[in-house]
Amino acid sequence: MGLGAVVVSLAVLVVIAWLMFMVSQSRVRRRKREAAALNLSPFMTDDELETSRLNGVLHSALIATGILAIIMPIYYLNEAPRQAAAAERFEEIAVERGHHWFEEFQCSNCHGPEGGGGGAPYVEKRSGLSTTWAAPAINDILFRYTDDEVRYWLIWGRQNSPMPAWGAEGGGPLNVQQIEELIAYIDHIQVSQTDVVAAVDSAVDRELARLDGADATLDAAIEAQREEIAAIEAAPAQYEATRHLPIALAAAFTDPGFCTLQSAAVFDNPCDEPAPDRDRDGLSDAAETSLTALLDEILAAAPRSDAYTALERIANSPVADDAGAFDPDNAYSTSVGGTRIADFDQAELMVTEFDAVARDLNLAVVGQERLLERARVGLDYLLAAREARAYSIDIPQIAEDGFEGRLADARRASGLYNAYCARCHTAGYSAGVPFTQEAGSGAFGPSLRGDRSVTQFPDIEDQLDFIIGGSQNGQAYGINGIGRGWMPAFGAVLSEADLRLIVQFERALP
Ligand code: HEC
Ligand code: HEC
Repeated sequence: MGLGAVVVSLAVLVVIAWLMFMVSQSRVRRRKREAAALNLSPFMTDDELETSRLNGVLHSALIATGILAIIMPIYYLNEAPRQAAAAERFEEIAVERGHHWFEEFQCSNCHGPEGGGGGAPYVEKRSGLSTTWAAPAINDILFRYTDDEVRYWLIWGRQNSPMPAWGAEGGGPLNVQQIEELIAYIDHIQVSQTDVVAAVDSAVDRELARLDGADATLDAAIEAQREEIAAIEAAPAQYEATRHLPIALAAAFTDPGFCTLQSAAVFDNPCDEPAPDRDRDGLSDAAETSLTALLDEILAAAPRSDAYTALERIANSPVADDAGAFDPDNAYSTSVGGTRIADFDQAELMVTEFDAVARDLNLAVVGQERLLERARVGLDYLLAAREARAYSIDIPQIAEDGFEGRLADARRASGLYNAYCARCHTAGYSAGVPFTQEAGSGAFGPSLRGDRSVTQFPDIEDQLDFIIGGSQNGQAYGINGIGRGWMPAFGAVLSEADLRLIVQFERALP
C-alpha cells in the first residue's frame, strides 16, 4: 500500500471519529433535556473556555500540525519516483501492445520481424509484371523523422506505394491509442546511432553492386519472361500429354488386379478381389509398379511448378527402413524384408499434387491467349527498359560535372544517393531495376534533374543544411519550396563528408 493510501485512510478515520463524537454529543444533550440544538444554543463563555480545555485543544492542534509536517515532505519526496515508475510501467505496456499490433497488422511481413527492412509484393501497372517493392527499415526511422512525422505516415500511409493508411483518419483500421502504441514500439526497437552509421558502407556497396549488375539483372528478367512465355505456349501440348493420367492413376488404386481395400477406398470404390500386397502397406505390388511408371510420365510431361517440385520430392524421397536414397526405378516395388510404409501415403500425396498440376495446366490452356498477351506486354516492357537503360548512371560524366573528374567520389556519391535518396527521388527505384527511371527523375519527392537543386538552392551550403535537417511541415525552404515534413533529416544518419558528396551528385544531375 502506498503512502498516499495510508494518508487518505487516516483522514477518513479522523473524519469518522469526529462525526461519531458529534453524534454522541448531541445524544448527551438530548438526554440532559437541553432545549435547543447545539448550533442554536449559546456556546461556553470566555471564562469557561480559557481553562485547561483551551490548552488541550491547542496541544492537539500542535500534534496534528507536527504529524502533517512530517507526512507531507515524505509524501512529496515519494511522489516523483512513484510517478516515474508508473510512467515506465505505462510505457512498457504500450510497447508490448505496440508489438502486438505490429504482428497483428503484419507490419513485419513487409518491414521485417524487428523492423529491419523487407519488401512487399507489388504488381507494376504498366507492364503487369510482379515484383517486390522494397520496404524501408523502420528500426532507424527516428534518426530521420520525428515522432510526429512517423505518426503522419502511420495514419495516412504512403500514396502510390504498398504502404497502406493505418489510422482511422486515413481510412485505416487503427484508433489513436493503437497508433501511439505502435510508435512506442517503433521507439523501442530503434537501433543505436553507431549501428546506423556503421551500416552506411555496406548499404553503399549493396547499391553499387545493384548498379553494376543492373544490365545482367535485366537480362535475367528478360530470360525468365521468355521462359514464362514458352511455358504458356507449351501448355496445350502438356495438357494433351497428361490428359489420360487421372484415369490411369485412379485405375492403379481401384481396378481389379491392382486394388486393395484401402487403396480403392481413396476413390470411394469397393475392391472385390484385393491384389497381392506383399509389404502390406495398403498398396498392391502391381499398383506400386504402375504408379512408379506414372510418376515418371508426369515428371517427363508436366511443366515446372510447386506441385511439380513436390512430385519430384516424392520420386527422390528416401523410403522408411531402407536408409539408402529412393530409387525411382524400383520405387513402389516390394523390397524383400523392408516394409515400405511410406508408399501408401506417398501415393495419396502423388494424386493430390498431380491434381494441382492438372488444374494449373487446365487454367493455362483456358486462359492461354490472355496470359500470353500479358506476358508479352511484360516482355516488351523489359526489352524497352533494357534498351533505354534508364537505371544506369553515367559516373564518368557525373565525375566531370560535379567532382572535377574524381571518379571514386562520383562513384561513392552515386551509391550513397541510391541507398538513401533514390527510393523517393528516382521513379520506380523501390520496385527494382527494370522499373527504375533516371536518377533524380522524381517520384514521391520532387525531381532533382536539370539543375533543379541548383535553382532551389543557389548556395550549396543551403542545400546541405536542408538535407541535414529535412523539411518541416508548413516551413519554407530554398527559393520556393514549401515543406510538408516529408523529406527526412539525414544529419544523424550520414557524415557531413558523405552528405556533401550526395549534394554535389544532385547538383551534377543532367
Ligand atoms: C504491404 C506492405 C506493408 C505493410 C503491411 C506495412 N508497410 Fe509500412 N511501408 C511499406 C512500404 C513499401 C513503405 C515505403 C513506401 C515508399 O517506398 O515510399 C512503407 C513505409 C513505412 C513508413 C515510412 C518509412 C520511411 O522511412 O519512409 C513507416 C513508418 C511504416 N511504413 C510503418 C509501418 C507500420 C507500423 C506498419 C504496420 C501497422 C506498416 N508499415 C505496414 C510497406 C508496408
Ligand atoms: C521518404 C522520402 C524521401 C527520401 C528518402 C528523401 N527525400 Fe528528399 N524530399 C522528399 C520530399 C517529399 C521532398 C519535398 C519536401 C516536402 O514535401 O516536405 C523532398 C525534397 C528534397 C529536396 C528539395 C527539392 C526541391 O526542389 O524542392 C532535395 C534537394 C532533396 N529532397 C534531397 C534529398 C536527398 C539528398 C536525399 C537522400 C540523402 C533525400 N532527399 C531523401 C522525400 C524524400
